[in-house]
Amino acid sequence: MKNIYNPSVKNIDKAVDILKKGGNIVMPTETVYGLAGIANNNKAVAQIYNIKNRPEFNPLIAHCCDIEMVEKIAVINDMARKVLNHFNRGSITIVLPSKDNTNLSKLGCAGLDTVAIRIPNNKICNEIIRKCGFPLFAPSANYSGGISPTKAEHVYKSLGNKVDMILDGGASPVGIESTIIDLSNDKPAILRAGAITQDELEKFIGIALVERTFAKGNNPIAPGQLKSHYKPKKKLFINIEKPNSKQAFLGYGDCEDCFINLSKNGNLVEVASNLFDALYKADESEFNEIAIAPIPNYGIGIAINDKIKRASV
Ligand code: TXA
Ligand code: MG
Repeated sequence: MKNIYNPSVKNIDKAVDILKKGGNIVMPTETVYGLAGIANNNKAVAQIYNIKNRPEFNPLIAHCCDIEMVEKIAVINDMARKVLNHFNRGSITIVLPSKDNTNLSKLGCAGLDTVAIRIPNNKICNEIIRKCGFPLFAPSANYSGGISPTKAEHVYKSLGNKVDMILDGGASPVGIESTIIDLSNDKPAILRAGAITQDELEKFIGIALVERTFAKGNNPIAPGQLKSHYKPKKKLFINIEKPNSKQAFLGYGDCEDCFINLSKNGNLVEVASNLFDALYKADESEFNEIAIAPIPNYGIGIAINDKIKRASV
């Protein structure tokens, strides 16, 4: 039987019960579906790495239901507070110093003295976190390196019955992962491009963000920044104007023969929300390869191009 459940009160309570006992569930968020475990339980966190087959213990994002919950585990400096208030539930993840003497799992933070926090914009997910009473660590609910899931069906295709429960919250409206910024020290940095653009952030905080993807010793600190990521099973080609007959073509704007048009009206937000679903569908199609039309590289297009480039390596 498929382990996909509707998000009724009964099922939400069941999910909370599983989480409180140190188990794992998959929950919808506005960006992509997340594989959750309670962030104060090392066993629950270890299972996340195991289920995803994540090769290294890369740090995870602690999902909180509100700023009060963030305060339980992280030191919120003035800039972080401003950003959290302004981009309120706006698909942004902030790396902050973690507080001492909390029960936050060291494994989930990969032993760092910082923690990445995010307040999602999804009622089901926030209700689950609130009822758990502690943040939930949750990476995207797919096999490591694969396409991120934006529908419950995608999760099932990737992880199958490896989790007890996948809560179905419909299609994730944003469709790509949150923007990650590091505000843990006096050199604000952008670690991962996402729905909120670097431009928008810089305008708001009034400081140029450094682009930083690698920590000391060349250990990647943001796996979304690994060269190869988000990969479909079929070979993916990007910036293609004229696909050949072997290719499932993901078009943009005017497009006669495309397998899926990512956005007929050339709306980049729509491209983001359709992208991963289109990759799943193209992967299952009768075509041998996948080709994507050129996507303009501004606004959210920067994050989209960053992802499809990594998916094509
Ligand atoms: O939209 C999202 O952010 C989704 C949904 C499920 O919330 N989550 C997600 O998680 O994309 P994940 O595990 O795929 O990516 C977490 C990223 C990684 O790139 C990780 O390296 C970075 O956050 N990260 C976590 N803690 C960090 C820290 N203390 N310092 C630097 N980077 C950190
Ligand atoms: Mg991921």
